[in-house]
Amino acid sequence: MNIAVIGSGHVGLVTGACFADLGHKVICADSDAKKIQTLKSGKIPFFEPGLLDLVVKNAAKKRLSFTTSIATAVKRSEVIFISVGTPTKESGEADLSSVESVVTQIARSLTGYRLVVEKSTVPVETGNWIKRTMQINLPKSRKADFDVASNPEFLREGAAVQDFMKPDRIVVGVEIKLSEKILSSIYESIDAPIVVTDVNSAEIIKHASNSFLSAKISFINMVSRLCERVGADILKVSEGMGYDRRIGPSFLSAGIGFGGFCFPKDLAAFIHIGEKAGADFGMLKEVININEGQKKHFIRLVKDTLWNLNGKKIGVLGLSFKPDTDDMRFAPAIDIIRSLRNDGADIHAFDPEAMPVAKTVLRDIRFARNPYETARSADALLCLTEWKEFREIDLARVKRLMKRPLIFDGRNMYDPKALGELGFEYVSIGRPAVR
Ligand code: UGA
Repeated sequence: MNIAVIGSGHVGLVTGACFADLGHKVICADSDAKKIQTLKSGKIPFFEPGLLDLVVKNAAKKRLSFTTSIATAVKRSEVIFISVGTPTKESGEADLSSVESVVTQIARSLTGYRLVVEKSTVPVETGNWIKRTMQINLPKSRKADFDVASNPEFLREGAAVQDFMKPDRIVVGVEIKLSEKILSSIYESIDAPIVVTDVNSAEIIKHASNSFLSAKISFINMVSRLCERVGADILKVSEGMGYDRRIGPSFLSAGIGFGGFCFPKDLAAFIHIGEKAGADFGMLKEVININEGQKKHFIRLVKDTLWNLNGKKIGVLGLSFKPDTDDMRFAPAIDIIRSLRNDGADIHAFDPEAMPVAKTVLRDIRFARNPYETARSADALLCLTEWKEFREIDLARVKRLMKRPLIFDGRNMYDPKALGELGFEYVSIGRPAVR
């Protein structure tokens, strides 16, 4: 099938490259000429495991191309996926101006029938707005026609290619049977259940899924505080809960709270949607409160142990909001580092991928060349992202380098007993501290 994907951000580019790899002919459009130039030259504008190979391979096979022109993309396709950004406004509401602008341009470029599919995460009833906007902007003189469908994405950054190729489910929100047929045939070679529903329900599935997952994280973080108070072990509590198939083991890792561009944004948007519809989404406000509180709690643990921070050297391992990505958006590390900096701490940080981005966000800290450099003469070491290479670090060497062998592990990466035996003071989340 000939497919256009409008918007070459994380979701759009992964979607385009994966569709091409499934054998479709894909044209990706983006208004950012620099980004398109980067893609045309065989590079990708962000880090995502496995994506570069897919882009290079499928571009070479002429199944994947790039353009800045929506009109060109529309002309060459039968199905158009919209995956432009839907950032948060001050009110928490999603800003849909990019969606409107793209839809207007699609409508004006239409010469025949196209299926227009929303891929971006959008509030319920956006499908109706897209339809109306298309109708208003369709060229009067031509035989332009269209249908609108919703096909939300459930890709995790860092595992997006794998999530695309092996999804738990594919959700397809349609108005007519033909749209279902087209979308089913696009995903034909992927082995996953397809949930077919109306457009509104598909839109809600996406927001409800992300909100539910965030709630799971805040729930376990809340329980981790109780574990700390009474000397229980949150890892055992999660394990014991997770074996219950109704609960499941994933997204029960306590830590320093969730970040990234999706959960905080989608929670705010879903709360706003609920309020607008007169439904009480107070529970989700508490999910946000616990998440903010979790970062503050971690900061308090550091301050209560180190006393005055002024002039103390603190090493930081990990900056991105989670491993296998260079994404710093809403990363807990930002708030934590800023707070420690405000108290005068001298921060030396290392992240395997996120440092170029981090340098634009955290301007008054130092960046180390490797994890060991962050530990040299440090009064404490903070683990903020659970990169694999940090799990495998030579802790005996770290201990020798540090001024005070003290680790605050915001991601529960290490075994407290082993660290105690090595001579560390070790403070983690929801587990008894080793002092
Ligand atoms: C999330 C969803 O998982 C995807 O299904 C969805 O498609 C995506 O948002 C989106 O809407 O585009 P993502 O933001 O990439 O994906 O990251 P996650 O892997 O879900 O992690 C989010 C945050 O939760 C991270 O900061 C992570 O450290 C934290 N987390 C996750 C925990 O603190 N504990 C856990 O047990 C799991």
